[in-house]
Amino acid sequence: MQNVNIYILAIESSCDDTSCAVLVNDRVLSNVTANQKIHQQYGGVVPELASRDHQKNIVPVVDAALQAANITLQQLQAIAITRGPGLMGSLLVGLSFAKSLSLALQIPLIEVNHMQGHILAHFIRVSETRNNQPDPDSYRENIGPNFPFICLTVSGGHTQIVKIKDHLDFELMGETIDDAVGEAFDKAAKILGLPYPGGPMIDQLAKEGDVTKFKFAHTKVPEHDYSFSGIKTSFLYFIQNNVQKNEHFVTENLNDICASYQHHLIQVLLKNVKEVLKVTQIKQLAIAGGVSANSALREQIKALETELGIKTFIPKFEYCTDNAAMIGITAYFKYLKNDFSDLSLTPLTRMSVQ
Ligand code: KG4
Ligand code: ZN
Repeated sequence: MQNVNIYILAIESSCDDTSCAVLVNDRVLSNVTANQKIHQQYGGVVPELASRDHQKNIVPVVDAALQAANITLQQLQAIAITRGPGLMGSLLVGLSFAKSLSLALQIPLIEVNHMQGHILAHFIRVSETRNNQPDPDSYRENIGPNFPFICLTVSGGHTQIVKIKDHLDFELMGETIDDAVGEAFDKAAKILGLPYPGGPMIDQLAKEGDVTKFKFAHTKVPEHDYSFSGIKTSFLYFIQNNVQKNEHFVTENLNDICASYQHHLIQVLLKNVKEVLKVTQIKQLAIAGGVSANSALREQIKALETELGIKTFIPKFEYCTDNAAMIGITAYFKYLKNDFSDLSLTPLTRMSVQ
């Protein structure tokens, strides 16, 4: 098996990004994503519009990924697809397309859990480039964390702390009991009148702000779980109260508001992560998901290396937000275990990481 090259085409369509990647073993040959701009005007993802856009995008995106990888359909050994969690209509478009390809090409279908995909993106082999082409002979020495490690997965739909015991062996250590931290970013941005998705905007504006200027509420939750819904509401009241006193409050304090609020969210995230590291005595920490693109979070995770004497793993930007390469790498590990799905597979809007 080791000497055989396994070509996998992976599709991700769980939310509002239509993405297709081609991998050879654990190396990404192409990773093409069509972002849906239509949701910006609504300040959030509209499920009905998302599934329609997936229908429009899926054929061109798959074509583009095959072309960029310089691979034909006949060279593929398997089709990987996100089964869930996600939006039903969005998942259905990707899954139906993937089933048709698998049937037409007579190659196995591999279902992937989106949350596992975010984490396993750390195992994508990063190849050096030579004359702007991937150089197959010079791989990064060390591929991803060793087992076990802890991963903080932070996205628009999820906030989880997961213990990873092997490529396909996950244990959920804590998660949000209500909103995800990405929602706490996006809703706050909306309240501030910033465009959707607001996380990257808050990140930018926070760079020029004072993290100590404003204080926000803490919500106490048992064990290692999180709650962001109260923090979001307290942010709304904080803005409303201050705007009543000074109608220019937001424009006059935008950078400080973003910096203080972002800092607060990060402190909340890190508190539980540190507890889990202490309880488990695990010395390796990774972050994953869209919010792991946040520059302050990346810096503060890195700083834990000296503070706690641990090793940290921060994903490449392109593998933080939703992408099909992470689905492909997960499928690769399943392929090695002959873990295939049959064509009666249905999407799941909810799906546990473990
Ligand atoms: O993983 P992802 O692309 O989709 C989901 O599975 O939800 O995550 C999207 C989330 C959004 O909430 C977006 O605002 C957030 O990731 N995000 C960020 C940043 N970049 C993306 N949040 C904070 N700072 C960023 N730089
Ligand atoms: Zn995601």
